[in-house]
Amino acid sequence: MMPLLNTATAAARRAGDMALRYADRIEQLTVRSKSPNELVTEVDEAAERIIMEHIRTGYPDHAFLGEEGGASGSGDYEWIIDPLDGTTNYIHRFPVFCVSLALRRRGELQLGVIYDPMRQEMFTCTRGGGARMNERRIRASRQETLAGSLIGTGFPYRRNLQWVDVYMRMLRQVMRHTSGVRRPGAAALDLAYVAAGRLDGFWEFGLKPWDIAAGALLIEEAGGWISGLEPDTDCMETGHVLAGTPKVYAELRKLFDKNFG
Ligand code: IPD
Ligand code: CA
Ligand code: CA
Repeated sequence: MMPLLNTATAAARRAGDMALRYADRIEQLTVRSKSPNELVTEVDEAAERIIMEHIRTGYPDHAFLGEEGGASGSGDYEWIIDPLDGTTNYIHRFPVFCVSLALRRRGELQLGVIYDPMRQEMFTCTRGGGARMNERRIRASRQETLAGSLIGTGFPYRRNLQWVDVYMRMLRQVMRHTSGVRRPGAAALDLAYVAAGRLDGFWEFGLKPWDIAAGALLIEEAGGWISGLEPDTDCMETGHVLAGTPKVYAELRKLFDKNFG
């Protein structure tokens, strides 16, 4: 797994560092609208190209599922790529964005890499090999109760506006029972922060596989829990995510199940 992980971290670093170089020249970039509220720049597209070219050099027969380019190739190995997670932040110079890469083999996640070029933090994991940040082992927090916990989230928008009412009920509950709620704006990084114990829990509606894949394996390898928001569902299938340190996950689940009852 190490050669694959080295390839993934090198690809993520190249793409992230390129995004960082352009972050000072945002006004020169063309911002296109894929749909209302869904912005993309040429940095998103160039970052995906850089990642795919780098991986293809070592692994020409691997398949890809990229946010910008969609699905290509076939075979046992498939890379799931969010070349720039947090594009709205990026365009506004709000310094929270990352690159997210995961590798699936026959449908099972094998490794994940999330790179934050602003802070030069590289989160990595391999199945069964634990989770790391800049080579140091990370673990989900030891928080045992919702009281005192810090919870990350993402607001529903665009196609997910249908969830606003149920989301607001959940938010009200979380605000009442925790120390605080954060909405930084890059879901993959939020998941990495759960793995690193910087957030005790996280939930969001309507994410895509490239937002979730790397973070999901990181959280599992760091001893946290992640699933769909509705009981007994898989977030990679539904896109609705609930994650956290085991005890906080369980308490959030109890709090939220009322909303799905
Ligand atoms: C978005 C970010 C954001 C989340 C959105 C995602 P993008 O990804 O992760 O935090 O709330 O649902 O689509 O479009 O910046 O790659
Ligand atoms: Ca994303
Ligand atoms: Ca993206």
